[in-house]
Amino acid sequence: MERFFVSTPIYYVNAKPHLGHAYTTVVADTLTRFNLLMGAQTYFLTGTDEHGDKIVKAAAASGQSPKEYADHISSLFRDLWPKLGIANDQFIRTTDPKHVKVVQEVLQKVYDAGDIYFGEYGGHYCFGCERFYTEKELVDGLCPDHQTKPEYIAEKNYFFRMSKYQGWLIDHIKANPDFIRPRQYRNEVLSLLESGALEDLCISRPKSRLTWGIDLPFDSNYVCYVWFDALINYLSALGWPRGEKFKKFWPFANHIVAKDILKPHAIFWPTMLKAAGLTPYLSLNVHGYWLVREAKMSKSLGNVIEPLKMVDAYGVDAFRYFLLREMVFGSDAAFSEEALVGRLNADLANDLGNLFNRSLAMCHKYFGGKIPIPQEEGPEDAEIKRLGREAMEKFQRHFEEFQCSRGLEGLWEMVRGLNKYIDSTAPWTLFKNKNTARLSTVMYVLLENMRKIAVHLWPVMPASAERMLAQLGMTFDKEKVYLPKELDAWGILDSGSQVAESSNLFPRVELPEPAPTPKPEGAPKPAPKAEPLAEAEFEDFQKLDIRVGTVLEALRHPDADKLLVVRVDLGEAEPRQIVSGIAEFFKPEELPGRQVVVVANLKPRKIRKQLSQGMILTVKTEAGMELLATPGQVPGGSRVS
Ligand code: ME8
Ligand code: MG
Repeated sequence: MERFFVSTPIYYVNAKPHLGHAYTTVVADTLTRFNLLMGAQTYFLTGTDEHGDKIVKAAAASGQSPKEYADHISSLFRDLWPKLGIANDQFIRTTDPKHVKVVQEVLQKVYDAGDIYFGEYGGHYCFGCERFYTEKELVDGLCPDHQTKPEYIAEKNYFFRMSKYQGWLIDHIKANPDFIRPRQYRNEVLSLLESGALEDLCISRPKSRLTWGIDLPFDSNYVCYVWFDALINYLSALGWPRGEKFKKFWPFANHIVAKDILKPHAIFWPTMLKAAGLTPYLSLNVHGYWLVREAKMSKSLGNVIEPLKMVDAYGVDAFRYFLLREMVFGSDAAFSEEALVGRLNADLANDLGNLFNRSLAMCHKYFGGKIPIPQEEGPEDAEIKRLGREAMEKFQRHFEEFQCSRGLEGLWEMVRGLNKYIDSTAPWTLFKNKNTARLSTVMYVLLENMRKIAVHLWPVMPASAERMLAQLGMTFDKEKVYLPKELDAWGILDSGSQVAESSNLFPRVELPEPAPTPKPEGAPKPAPKAEPLAEAEFEDFQKLDIRVGTVLEALRHPDADKLLVVRVDLGEAEPRQIVSGIAEFFKPEELPGRQVVVVANLKPRKIRKQLSQGMILTVKTEAGMELLATPGQVPGGSRVS
């Protein structure tokens, strides 16, 4: 059985978690779940990095001891993860006594092997990075990451003979194409290694300057350099050297980091492992930065986004989906709430949400909610199955390479393909023509493919996927799912079992209102004047069937500038086509997913040659026009009375 050990960086406890940390940890959680469904034994490690100068400084600034301070911030990380649907197997802290002991054992081992020596060193020290920079690495004399001026420090210290392993590391990277990925980072590391002689690594700090660290076992006047300490967490967490977990999961380690800490992971860490006589990790997976207004999101730049705010506003699964879909793993991505809202509405509310809403409603309308027995399949069915298979294959292949965004993009070909399949098979017409055999097959093909989509989405949106499956009359059991089998499996959904009446898992979302700007007069402008109408009898009003529906699609009217041709889902078997005079105020692409109020029993008529089966209610305002809607999402077809 395959083994999959995945780690995030252990985060510094000098400030509370932000969206950057959330991203890496969500990726690790998703890939753990994915590999579990691929049949692997998995282990997922995260934690906090608590020693070093910058923790001491942050603790002093908050008037606490380093340990008190670390306890507090570490718990913020630990308590955040479950709220993001993250289920790590272990949370390690570098102040754990077990970790301290392992670091000392590794130091002693490398020292005994002759790869640690005592010497004099001067260099440019960045406190933010906790590392020395060479002249060459500085940009205009500043740290390339923090844009601060490093301090020049010269002192006697212990050094790790990293240079000794330079040739070995080059060979290892060349022989193992997936050792560092995506490829641009592999190339970056190779060119760094090949551009000149690697320097040895300073791995100690004199206690005269820093005491908040792990004592060197062979010289109590020094503590261990924080990076040498921190990297070893990947071993100490598994109980190196004799622990069961170590025996089981090393060297099947897949580390995930952002490019800020590429060098320690790609150069320090494998050479440390080599010197300690251990097999290197399997893969280092490097992602780019989340940017806010073109700058890296970071605590030192003060432009951070708080993950919990996003979860409260949009829900945990939608937030996870956005993170994984928006950032191409390896490249930078810009974070904005506009982008988030746009993606959730397009991908989740429109594509996936509508697929579920429409299909479940049809299953109820045509089959009383019971999954029908499929009959003979036709070419359209074979085609959508082929497309689905290809989409799932793409999903699996990209997820195996940590490319979640590309994988989801692949899966969405299936989601969109199924929406088109509904349009082209037109179940409402089959129903009208009493073609029950064909209708049964179409319905089954739809629902079975939806099941496959839900199963593939479990790693990304665990709670929603479980609810999607429940809506299809199934319970999710992660022990029983095996994704490779899903490519060809067919007929897992039981004909005769009952599906949910409606889905509504992914409501349309909106940007929070900007704070209102007070009007100069202090009062809202009066509404445009409307002449009162003559009295109506109550019975007259009762004749109207007014319903709430969801827009599926809107197109420009082929021969009228002011009209849009809108297709609205009223929870009926087939969507309504309504011609509406709203083109001056709404772009067609803004409308899909929005809810509208419709007069549903207006006598159908042709408007400029296009059939219109109802009327969308609107409100004229000073600024233009608004669509009438309920304050929250309601099931399609809900009656207004
Ligand atoms: O470097 N975009 O901890 P750290 C994407 N303790 N990811 C981001 C990000 C951003 N803008 N900002 C942070 C350390 N991250 C060391 C690690 S490991 C043995 C020791 C994420 O708190 C990303 O995973 O500075 C990045 O590598 C990590 O947080 C850095 O966390
Ligand atoms: Mg950092």
